[in-house]
Amino acid sequence: MRIPYLAAALSLACAAQLPGQDAANGKKLFAKYGCYECHGSQGQGTTAGARLAPKPIPLAALIAYMRQPKGQMPPYTAKVVSDAELADIRAYLASIPEPPPAKNIPLLNQ
Ligand code: HEC
Repeated sequence: MRIPYLAAALSLACAAQLPGQDAANGKKLFAKYGCYECHGSQGQGTTAGARLAPKPIPLAALIAYMRQPKGQMPPYTAKVVSDAELADIRAYLASIPEPPPAKNIPLLNQ
């Protein structure tokens, strides 16, 4: 079967050069697709889902994971969330700032 192979190769090629990654749109999509329900609204992780931000995994790995998750996470096909939308979601996760170190939080230093 050549067609599925071609489709896979094409989608990989597209993933490597996705146009404009829009973090603001990614934030909306993260809410729209319910990612926040398991991963927290800032991708900080919850008891139901892994921590995703800051420093999300590389885009190609993220797309591959979404299509075929390995554990509890439901799969998201390209019909549900496109590669370009995942690029925006990743841009949002990458835009989330690191939390401050504990020594900079006055309440934790009394
Ligand atoms: C029903 C709960 C649930 C939802 C909804 C969900 N996830 Fe997950 N996700 C998980 C869990 C649990 C894991 C940890 C590994 C596993 O069990 O699959 C995970 C893992 C991941 C990983 C891999 C993290 C790593 O470091 O390897 C990524 C990336 C991810 N999710 C992104 C998303 C995105 C983006 C969405 C929304 C489109 C989403 N998830 C929606 C539960 C969820």
